[in-house]
Amino acid sequence: MFNFIRQRIELKLGVVLLFVVFIPIIIMSFMSVNLILKGIQREVQQRIVSDLNVAVAIYDKIKHQLRYTIRDQSSRVKYYFDTDTLDDLPAFLKAVAEQNNLDILSIADRRGKIIARGNQSLLKGDSLADRAYFKRAIDGEDIVSTELVSIHEMQAEGIKKDFTEALMIKVVMPVKEPDGIVRAVIIAGYLLNNDHSIVDLITDLIGAQAAIFQRETIVSSSLRDLNGARIMGTKTNQKIVETVLQKGKQYIGEDEVFGTSYINGYIPLFNANNQAVGSLYIRASEEGFQEIKRKVMSSIIFMAGFSILLALAIGFYVGRPLTMAIESLRQGAIAVANSDFDHTIKVDTDDELKELADSFNTMTAELKEAQKKLLQSEKMAALGQIAAAVSHELKNPLTGIKMAAYFLRDKVNSADTEANKSISDIESEADRANKIVMEILTFSQPISPIFNTVKINELLGEILPVQEYQAELHEIKVIKHLQEIKSVIKADRDQLKQIFDNLINNALQAMGAGGELTITSMEERDFIKVKIKDTGVGIPEENVKSIFQPFFTTKDKGIGLGLSIVNEIVKKHQGTISVESRLGQGTTFIISFPKFVNQA
Ligand SMILES: Nc1ncnc2c1ncn2[C@@H]1O[C@H](COP(=O)(O)OP(=O)(O)O)[C@@H](O)[C@H]1O
Ligand SMILES: [Mg+2]
Repeated sequence: MFNFIRQRIELKLGVVLLFVVFIPIIIMSFMSVNLILKGIQREVQQRIVSDLNVAVAIYDKIKHQLRYTIRDQSSRVKYYFDTDTLDDLPAFLKAVAEQNNLDILSIADRRGKIIARGNQSLLKGDSLADRAYFKRAIDGEDIVSTELVSIHEMQAEGIKKDFTEALMIKVVMPVKEPDGIVRAVIIAGYLLNNDHSIVDLITDLIGAQAAIFQRETIVSSSLRDLNGARIMGTKTNQKIVETVLQKGKQYIGEDEVFGTSYINGYIPLFNANNQAVGSLYIRASEEGFQEIKRKVMSSIIFMAGFSILLALAIGFYVGRPLTMAIESLRQGAIAVANSDFDHTIKVDTDDELKELADSFNTMTAELKEAQKKLLQSEKMAALGQIAAAVSHELKNPLTGIKMAAYFLRDKVNSADTEANKSISDIESEADRANKIVMEILTFSQPISPIFNTVKINELLGEILPVQEYQAELHEIKVIKHLQEIKSVIKADRDQLKQIFDNLINNALQAMGAGGELTITSMEERDFIKVKIKDTGVGIPEENVKSIFQPFFTTKDKGIGLGLSIVNEIVKKHQGTISVESRLGQGTTFIISFPKFVNQA
């Protein structure tokens, strides 16, 4: 139960904190990751653009080197024409081709007829006259381009490869006289299919992997598969075919290639007619990119985990005192339920919980007090009932005793003073016992007052003579200060008499013999007050609060009901009673009743 409560509150706090702390962190993390990744992507794209430029530069450089090689041979070719030793030309061409790794090296005359071939001296006489590049060469132009070569042309050139079509760097160059007249045309070709020297060079120089596409198919590559074999023959997708081959534009993009997502760059390779016949391909080295991505992701996961732990820890830290306090209150409630009112709750915090605990403690203290009072009044009630029953039973025998004493006095000789004294004692003790019985009955079965308008001085005038007689017997002087009072009070006459009888009896008893009894009545604002002052023994400080309790008495023959009856009657009359006393000097009781104002 305890753990359950605790865990629930702490968990709730943790979860709330998760929402407050963790979710913004996650959102921010993802936003920043996105930004970072986009930045990286841009970086990679920029790099691939520059890599592509470098790759194209390398490719162009190779093309132009080929061109310079051929130009170097141009004057030598002319020599064969000049010396009319054309029969030796094929051998020369063959040597040059082998030396420079050329797959084609042929010479055509001004009309386009092939007159010598480096590879296959036997085949001659076929014509290039209808080729566009030939016409441009005759016009004096050097043409360096990437060309598709058909199987027929390959066969004609003696290239024994089983492709139906191939990709070739071609150089077509006029052999000119000093006066500019074109004597012949040199045709040189470098086959790219299965030749990886260019792509390997690119990879060596820029670090990126490269490939050459013939139309949409890889024919040369430095890309490797998982086994380290070169990836060949793979085709690009339609989008790239459209962009690069059909529109002749550069393409850079993140694409699924060979099953993985890469950033790829394609740049078209053009033939002499400016048609894209293939492309140069660069794949961005993804390693760094992936590495950064991994690092960012792992730091996000770390942050997420950390904030979960932090949120839970804070939840527990904040929740713990709360649950401790709640547990403490719960224990307190159980204790109170088991009537343990001495249980106090201790909460060490300095907040509302402490206030709650304090009010709880106050509540238990008040409960304890109330419980005590209840117990007391229950005891009193029971005691009262017993007393009432006993008193009731005593009434008849007491009457019997008095009657018997009365008869006895008749029978006894009036001269027998000792016997007469005993009879008097019997009578007075029976009277006293009767008085006690009456007090007990009044206390235990209080009669509801019957209210009438009462003039207080008139009422005092009725009871004082009897009391004055008693005082005189004990040599006590009675002083009366009865001011003129026009107002009346609403009261039960008999009960009012009981009040003054009791108070004056107490005063006389406190003085014993000698002293002064002062009775004062007066009007004070809305109240009528009566003061009964004696010069008796006084009430010790510690007794003052007990004198109104039933059965509290300091007298041998007292029963302690007088003042408690007085108190009850005063309360029923909406009055108040107070006492001032100095030990050894005297006591004053002050009773105050509200004036009765006739509303009619
Ligand atoms: N005028 C007084 N002077 C001194 N003590 C008094 C006076 N009135 C009351 N007391 C004290 O209060 C107690 C209770 O009074 P009361 O209820 O009348 O019972 P009882 O008179 O039977 O003792 C007395 O026993 C006495 O100790
Ligand atoms: Mg008394």
